[in-house]
Amino acid sequence: MINIAVDGPAGAGKSSIAKSVAAEIGFIYVDTGALYRSIALYALENSLSGDALVSSLDEINVKLEYKDGAQHVIMNGRDVSDLIRTPEVSMNASKVSAIPAVREFLFGLQKKIAAENNIIMDGRDIGTVVLPNADLKVFLTASAEERANRRFKEMTDKTVTYEQVLEDIRQRDYNDMNREIAPLKQADDAVLLDTTGMTIDEVKAKLKSMIAEVQ
Ligand code: DC
Repeated sequence: MINIAVDGPAGAGKSSIAKSVAAEIGFIYVDTGALYRSIALYALENSLSGDALVSSLDEINVKLEYKDGAQHVIMNGRDVSDLIRTPEVSMNASKVSAIPAVREFLFGLQKKIAAENNIIMDGRDIGTVVLPNADLKVFLTASAEERANRRFKEMTDKTVTYEQVLEDIRQRDYNDMNREIAPLKQADDAVLLDTTGMTIDEVKAKLKSMIAEVQ
């Protein structure tokens, strides 16, 4: 199986790039952030945090299903793919992902998918922790301003300002890079791809050529 790890900060374009390249080359795209988001959603819906959330992990069943190439996140039998995309869930995902028991809970699931499929997996610790032996590791990033700008443009209902989006991105970068366990960082053997000023097509072409080299 060919395993491609794509890590990087929030809003770097990891998911849109990885998803579309995976579809073009016939790989499965695995969005690991969605797994953390589903735990975050469960925590919010049940008003759980910290130890209370950890003791409830047994009650959470998370599965990834693929329909027409699109990833769906199923939590306790419910398709939560859309519900996990709110700013509130984003922020809580960043918090719950700092809990070691939560990371451990999702680790096996990620390993299993990677062992059974040709995948492009995106996240924060894929190259460093989840798939240390990945065939290719890419660290995809862009300046915080550019990432906020892209996120803001994507939002259809502009209920928040650009400044709030930028502040959220900075806060999440800080959380993700400074947590004790599996912080966001570039693996020693990862290729750095800074997409500031690049178009999506340019980034996709670059990633595809890197993958072609390891196939
Ligand atoms: O990629 P995303 O924005 O959907 O991720 C949501 C949060 O989950 C992010 O703030 C950090 C966390 N995360 C993580 O800690 N490890 C991963 N492999 C993926 C996401």
